[in-house]
Amino acid sequence: MNNPFTLKNKTIVVTGASSGIGQQVAISCSQMGAKVVLIARNKERLEETKKQLSGKGHLSISYDLTDLEHQKELVQGIVSKMGPIDGLVNCAGITATLPLKLMKPETVDELFRTNVFATIELTRQVLGVKNINKEGASVIFFASVMGCVGENAKSLYSLTKGALISGCRSLALEYAPKKVRINVVSPGVIETPINKNQPYLADPEKRKATEALHPLGLGKTEDISNTCVFLLSDASRWITGQNIIVDGGYTIK
Ligand SMILES: NC(=O)c1ccc[n+]([C@@H]2O[C@H](COP(=O)([O-])OP(=O)(O)OC[C@H]3O[C@@H](n4cnc5c(N)ncnc54)[C@H](OP(=O)(O)O)[C@@H]3O)[C@@H](O)[C@H]2O)c1
Repeated sequence: MNNPFTLKNKTIVVTGASSGIGQQVAISCSQMGAKVVLIARNKERLEETKKQLSGKGHLSISYDLTDLEHQKELVQGIVSKMGPIDGLVNCAGITATLPLKLMKPETVDELFRTNVFATIELTRQVLGVKNINKEGASVIFFASVMGCVGENAKSLYSLTKGALISGCRSLALEYAPKKVRINVVSPGVIETPINKNQPYLADPEKRKATEALHPLGLGKTEDISNTCVFLLSDASRWITGQNIIVDGGYTIK
């Protein structure tokens, strides 16, 4: 039976695969039949993820994505080992909770370099004619509900995520003739290393308030990885340029 949701015979690159959501995206993609390329800085945690993957033929690469200058070689190396790329999930990201008065230029630069510049450069390299599957491909940017709504001291993080949401639409238009779809996934709160020590999860009272903001409760990494599997699969072949909000109802009130 033809299953449009399968990722069989697809090579999917997942950044941020050493932790949290990216780790689960890699696992779910492998369970759906993909060969997965795992990218993050921490080698040991990448290997931990790799051990949890289904199937064979996966590749893990320790790389700091803020090194924009060598991403070309990074992608050439992936293609030489794995063949053309069918999907890219730009999950690597960092956060900040800062009032404006503490938002120094170097912090702004660090957030934008990791969340935006590294994502755009990796996407640019992967979408090079020699690197992408000519039959079509799917790219996912990772934003957040903070790219659509506000929260105290989240402005810098929101600025980076909003940039990805806006840029995605024009990029999707630019690449539609090449059968490349580009979408954004915007999660609500999922407990992972990025936020587990933040007061809104670590403090029991504040955690209750955070849960109450999500009508369906806090999310799990699988809620996000299942969305990514759909966007990477042929089942979503008519969806591009969209910001898919996966937030248990956080933004509908
Ligand atoms: N969790 C949430 O509630 C939530 C909500 C909305 C959006 N998001 C977004 O979802 C994405 C994943 O978040 P998460 O919760 O899974 O966070 P996480 O557990 O902290 O994972 C972040 C990942 O990004 C990688 N990374 C960070 N900087 C990197 C760099 N310079 N080069 C290479 N890899 C880098 C980290 O790997 P290394 O440290 O090994 O490099 C790690 O694998 C992020 O873009 C985040 O903004 C998360």
